[in-house]
Amino acid sequence: MSIQQLNTQAKTAISLFLLFVLTATVSSVILLGLELSGKKDGLNIPTITQIQNKYTMPAIVSAMKGSMYKEVTDDADIDTVHNWIKEGSKKEGKLYDDAWKIIQTDCANCHSKSSKMSKAIPSMPFDTYEQVMTHTEAGYSWSKMSKQAHIHMFGISTFLLLVTLLFAYTTYKDSIKNALILASFGGAFLDIFSWWFSKFVPSLVYLIFVMGGLMVSSILLMSVLILANIWKKEA
Ligand code: HEC
Repeated sequence: MSIQQLNTQAKTAISLFLLFVLTATVSSVILLGLELSGKKDGLNIPTITQIQNKYTMPAIVSAMKGSMYKEVTDDADIDTVHNWIKEGSKKEGKLYDDAWKIIQTDCANCHSKSSKMSKAIPSMPFDTYEQVMTHTEAGYSWSKMSKQAHIHMFGISTFLLLVTLLFAYTTYKDSIKNALILASFGGAFLDIFSWWFSKFVPSLVYLIFVMGGLMVSSILLMSVLILANIWKKEA
């Protein structure tokens, strides 16, 4: 049995579904690129350095290098805040005074429960030392990782099962089917797990980069190949 034997209505529904998958996949890459580069538009393929910042550095520092870069007054301020955290984020001393001043001047006008700024984020306040401390852990915290992992794994596995099942019933060679099905699931799995483990083993950021790329390209490729195959006349 192959997808070419389906009726026109089923083929239409599958084709529309695949167009959604293609658009969603490209959107996820666009979103990641915007978050990591701090730019406002365009497709910005993430670089290794940007990925390294996101997954191995404290959220405050990686944001200052990426999505919040435009709010930073001086590049040297990023190092000051990073050094303060590296030295143990103590609530005393010159590093603390400097870092605290930067966070209050550059960030707390939006990151405050009482902020009146139109682009404020009162849900993520930096008003007190304790509030700032919740964002100083290197890489993903337990709560961020479990949140990201379950959302991504439920979401990705659901549509990936549909895409790979459809691909399994195309008329391509078995070897191509095996390779792309394994690459998409394997890439997703290793990508997500290296988000967490790269804070312990920094070189795993390469795995994030390669496996993320493998997952995205195999999903795009399978979707396009299914679209090409499903409308072909049965041999
Ligand atoms: C103009 C208001 C504004 C200023 C100033 C600002 N932020 Fe933000 N910040 C936001 C908003 C809105 C979000 C949530 C949406 C987003 O990510 O853009 C956010 C999200 C974040 C996040 C979580 C998402 C991420 O990208 O990691 C961090 C961390 C962060 N900000 C840190 C900072 C730091 C550090 C500064 C100071 C250098 C700063 N912000 C200055 C408005 C602001």
